[in-house]
Amino acid sequence: MFVVETPRIARKSKPGQFLVVRVDERGERIPLTIADSDAEKGIITLVIQEVGKSTIRMGVLREGDTLLDLVGPLGKPSHIDYFGKVVLVGGGIGIAPIYPVVKAMKYAGNSVVSIIGARTKELLFWEDKVKEFSDELLVTTDDGSCGHKGFVTDAVREVVSREPQVDLVVAIGPVIMMKAVAEVTRGPAIQTIVSLNPIMVDATGMCGGCRVTVGDRTKFACVDGPEFDGHLVDFDELMRRRKMYVDEEKTALQKCRLNHVATQHTFRAEHKG
Ligand SMILES: Cc1cc2nc3c(=O)[nH]c(=O)nc-3n(C[C@H](O)[C@H](O)[C@H](O)COP(=O)(O)OP(=O)(O)OC[C@H]3O[C@@H](n4cnc5c(N)ncnc54)[C@H](O)[C@@H]3O)c2cc1C
Ligand code: FES
Repeated sequence: MFVVETPRIARKSKPGQFLVVRVDERGERIPLTIADSDAEKGIITLVIQEVGKSTIRMGVLREGDTLLDLVGPLGKPSHIDYFGKVVLVGGGIGIAPIYPVVKAMKYAGNSVVSIIGARTKELLFWEDKVKEFSDELLVTTDDGSCGHKGFVTDAVREVVSREPQVDLVVAIGPVIMMKAVAEVTRGPAIQTIVSLNPIMVDATGMCGGCRVTVGDRTKFACVDGPEFDGHLVDFDELMRRRKMYVDEEKTALQKCRLNHVATQHTFRAEHKG
């Protein structure tokens, strides 16, 4: 978790928006959701999962270090309104981006059922923060080490069948999870919003890298989203496109692992002071 001092972004940021971050001169541009913000203190919070070269590099940073560039807030904010009963679902690292939606939906007067889940207990976080703004919180882990054993989709199915009326579902997490949640809500025709995470490059609508098919239309997730109607998203295409650079990512990660100790030393040296 990074608490970043950036007063101008903190003043403007709204739930659902993201930043593009570059860690250093040679770093790629990576999109990260603004998981929390405090306009008065001029700070925002990012939560990252170390999955490849750039996120591992970020993980080397320590208190007092700096990020080279932050661009944002980007993307359309979440549609926050009074809907009635809303079910808000965060899977894995998706717990971070669902949190500002939970908070805003509660402030808008909704009855909020939050569902958060992870593979195992060690990967769960922010239960207390999510609980604070939820009328009900359900926790799941794949291995049963915390909360209900199973997937977040099992909890969504339970809530949808138990509640006489669910007015909106918002799901943020791995693509496969968002696809599964949209399948659960398709039958009962509950409006379902998902936050898409395609490969993004410029994040200003210019490169086309983040294009996704929603209904019969091509959309750019960075400027038209990242949130879309989950019942209209072509998830299979999204999954295929996300795999486009797997070989390059693997090579970069291997090199990064090989150089990890060296990287830690140089990186720490570069970022001191
Ligand atoms: C709008 C949006 C918000 C996001 N918010 C968060 C967040 O809050 N926390 C978090 O941990 N992650 C978030 N991500 C995912 C994050 O951007 C990727 O994990 C990161 O770019 C991986 O870079 P890497 O070099 O560490 O890994 P790589 O080895 O480059 O890639 C690992 C995986 O990340 C995906 N990825 C790589 N580069 C990008 C890119 N430029 N854009 C999108 N996905 C990419 C790839 O599909 C791949 O599966 C978000 C993505 C998007 C599009
Ligand atoms: S990231 Fe380039 S158009 Fe969206």
